[in-house]
Amino acid sequence: MIVINTIEELQIELNAHRRDGKRIGFVPTMGNLHQGHLSLVDVAKKHADIVVVSLFVNPTQFGPNEDFDSYPRTLNEDCKKLEGQGTNIVFAPAKEEVYPKWPNITSVTVAELDKNHCGASRPVFFGGITTVVTKLFNMVRPDCAIFGEKDFQQITIIRRMVTDLNFDIDIIGAPIVREANGLAMSSRNGYLSQQEKDHASNLYQTLLWAKSEIEHGRQDFRQLEKEANQKLDDLDFTPDYFNITNQDTLELAQADDKKLVILLGCYMGKVRLIDNIQL
Ligand code: PAJ
Repeated sequence: MIVINTIEELQIELNAHRRDGKRIGFVPTMGNLHQGHLSLVDVAKKHADIVVVSLFVNPTQFGPNEDFDSYPRTLNEDCKKLEGQGTNIVFAPAKEEVYPKWPNITSVTVAELDKNHCGASRPVFFGGITTVVTKLFNMVRPDCAIFGEKDFQQITIIRRMVTDLNFDIDIIGAPIVREANGLAMSSRNGYLSQQEKDHASNLYQTLLWAKSEIEHGRQDFRQLEKEANQKLDDLDFTPDYFNITNQDTLELAQADDKKLVILLGCYMGKVRLIDNIQL
């Protein structure tokens, strides 16, 4: 495995692989890797010959009062994990490499899909993501890129961006990896004590409860959302949203919608956690 910090070096390396006819798979991350991230490397290996993982905490997707400064940066541990997982190239650029003129005045926006759910309380979030992912796609020029379904709104937005802007890149979704207690793995779980992590597993339990209510025939989705919010409130979470949505449009689902995803965002103390479940 090699660790590369500059775009120039990355392209020299990748051009050589392209000349050899190798397929390049890309896993963008912000580092502080856990088993969820590493599962994306496994998926990438199935779809590509050369796996590139980027480690970059992207400043443009954090709001002014969010945790950009304190977001955990663990380059050495991340590289060890990635090497163990069979990664070929780690791309860990500095901010100046990704944003040579700061602040950038060009950005990519995927309208509509970025408005609700996480977008409602984090107005700069998805614009920062689509901008940095576009930049990373231009740097890596992969054949395929792997995103986790843990961030369901993110992968939906990326898929639409790739369609709308004609990126010749296959976007591959990977299932959510959970702790034994059901809590979806997340770098932000590192802010929680073991006791808090156990309590946070109630988020998944609430999703499972709502899913089972729907599977048993309930179609009063708005009322069900209210009840779920109340459950979360009673468990001392501060719910941001609990939305039963259409899987393709991410609009609030109507009774005749067939493919659903329940999206959940909430705070446990100061820590923001998200999860979802597909039906
Ligand atoms: P980050 O939060 O580091 O996540 C990187 C990738 O790992 C994303 O595709 C995310 O969905 C996936 N992932 C995280 N936890 C997961 C889990 N428990 N199971 C499965 N996949 C999981 O998402 C970002 O970084 C950034 O927004 C990025 C796309 C890199 C742009 O900066």
